[in-house]
Amino acid sequence: MRKNIIAGNWKMNTTLCEGVELAKGLNEALKDKSPKCDVVIGTPFTHLATVAAAIDTDKIGVAAQNCADKEKGAYTGEVSAAMVASTGAKYVILGHSERRSYYHETAEILKTKVNLALANGLTPIFCIGEVLEEREAGKHFEVVDEQIKGSLFELSPEDFSKIVIAYEPVWAIGTGKTATADQAQEIHAHIRQTIASKYEQTIADNCSILYGGSMNAGNAKELVSKPDVDGGLIGGASLSVENFLPIIEAF
Ligand code: PGA
Repeated sequence: MRKNIIAGNWKMNTTLCEGVELAKGLNEALKDKSPKCDVVIGTPFTHLATVAAAIDTDKIGVAAQNCADKEKGAYTGEVSAAMVASTGAKYVILGHSERRSYYHETAEILKTKVNLALANGLTPIFCIGEVLEEREAGKHFEVVDEQIKGSLFELSPEDFSKIVIAYEPVWAIGTGKTATADQAQEIHAHIRQTIASKYEQTIADNCSILYGGSMNAGNAKELVSKPDVDGGLIGGASLSVENFLPIIEAF
C-alpha cells in the first residue's frame, strides 16, 4: 500500500541556526509519537547536513528543494544530486512551480534532474499543477498530464515506483486559498488514472500523491480524508512546530 507523507517545504527561509532549532523542535515533538505518516522537511541546501545530523532521520526524512541537472564539474554555484545524497538527505523536491516559473525549469531539464536524483538514491517529490487561467479554462487535467508525461514517462516501471507526486495548484500556493477537498480528490484521482494508463494499476495504486497549496492545521484533516490524497507538501505552515505538528496529526 502507498505511504502517507507530510512534507514541509521551507523554501528560502531560516538561517542555519533557526533551521536547526526548528528541526530539533520537530524532532523533540515527535519523539514519543508514532505518526501515521512519513514526515519530511525540505530545508535549504546549506542546512541539509547539519539538520540531518541533529535529528532522528528514521523519523523525519530530510529533503533538498532542488538539485542540479548536471552530474558534476564546472557549474559554479550548482549543487548536485550526489552532493545532496552525501548530506544524509533522502528526498529532493523537483519541479516546484516557483522553480518552473522563476528559474525557467522545463520538462526536459526536470527529466534530467529526476534521473540524476534516482541515480543517486534520492526520492524525488515531483511537483505539478496548473495556474489560475488554466484552471478557469478547464485545462487543469491536460496541464498535469503534460507535466507528468514530459518529465516522468520515460522512467522504467521500477524507477517510476520511487517517485512521489505533489499536486500543487499554483493559485493556491502561499495565497491562503486552498483547493477544496473535492477539487483535490478529483484531480488526484485523475493523476492516478494517468499513471495507470502508462504503468500498471498497482504502480498507480502505490504512488503517493500529495496535495500542496495553503494546507494548514484547519484544512489538513478534510484534505487527507479523501481516498486519493496521500498527504501534503506544506510551505508556510511548515515553518513552526506549532503549525506543522497538527498537520502531521491529521492522519
Ligand atoms: P504554501 O506552499 O503551503 O505556503 O502554500 C506550498 C508549496 O509551495 O509547496
